[in-house]
Amino acid sequence: MGTGKGYGKTILFGEHFVVYGLPSIVSALGACTTAEVRVVKGSGYTVNDLRPATPGYKEQKYNDAMQSIANIINHLKVDVENQRLEISFAGDLIAASGVGASAAQCTSLARALSETFNLNLDDEKINEAAYEGEKAYHGTPSGIDNTASTYGGLIWFVRNLGTGKNTMDLLQSPRKMLIVIANSGITASTTEVVADVRRLKEEGPERIEKIFGEYRKLAEAAKKALLIGDIATIGNLMNRNHKMLQQITVSGKINDELVEIALENGAIGAKLTGTGRGGLVISLAENEDTQEKIANAVEEKGYNAWRTTIG
Ligand code: MEV
Repeated sequence: MGTGKGYGKTILFGEHFVVYGLPSIVSALGACTTAEVRVVKGSGYTVNDLRPATPGYKEQKYNDAMQSIANIINHLKVDVENQRLEISFAGDLIAASGVGASAAQCTSLARALSETFNLNLDDEKINEAAYEGEKAYHGTPSGIDNTASTYGGLIWFVRNLGTGKNTMDLLQSPRKMLIVIANSGITASTTEVVADVRRLKEEGPERIEKIFGEYRKLAEAAKKALLIGDIATIGNLMNRNHKMLQQITVSGKINDELVEIALENGAIGAKLTGTGRGGLVISLAENEDTQEKIANAVEEKGYNAWRTTIG
């Protein structure tokens, strides 16, 4: 038997832009998905998914999840002809669109298989296996989610569009940041939303390149602000990043509404996080009172809110 875990994540800057090799900033969350693998007689594998989840999430992602498990088993060349694996997932990460639930599941499974079969995979190999799993969710994952899920911490991530390695720098912020993650309850299809951005780029490359250029400067400014703990600037840049995400059509009405609720209740900045068109909105609070006020306002409107700290 073997076990493993993978962190959830929240993207502070650069979802979607990261797919095109632009820099992004992501933080792992304290909450994790855990996997357990038991080896029994027989062949094939069974999956028991006990993760807490937003209603409908697991059903909607079922096929992708099963494909991702198959990808990881194949990638790690685990024999499922002469033995049967009983795989189960649990943990305190609430599986929802935007929280890196798929990557956390992939990472936890890669770690559990490594432990079960004494593969001694280091983090780099775990990350590679998790990336293979992520491919089941959409054809061109940037790798940001599995990287955050594997390594944890606050990460400056740049996808290498060639064959080289992605850039991954751990950032140390002198200041812990209080955030609220609001859950719209809507599960978006990452495949569809990523494909729509690609289409938009093909149809109007100049317009998108202009937004990309502005975003690149924003990401550099965000890194600087994070390194000195300048949360006023970070909040401002989150608001600007949200506007760019609106421009590339990945923000839904519900995301804009949740951003408004957060800002009206004192957030320094707010933006969608992850795929968009539903999923999650992250907002930054100056202090615990404001964090509570934002979370309460989100809950009063009937959505779930998670209060947490990053940095
Ligand atoms: C999803 O968490 C983040 C996206 O940028 C997709 C990716 O990076 O693979 C939307």
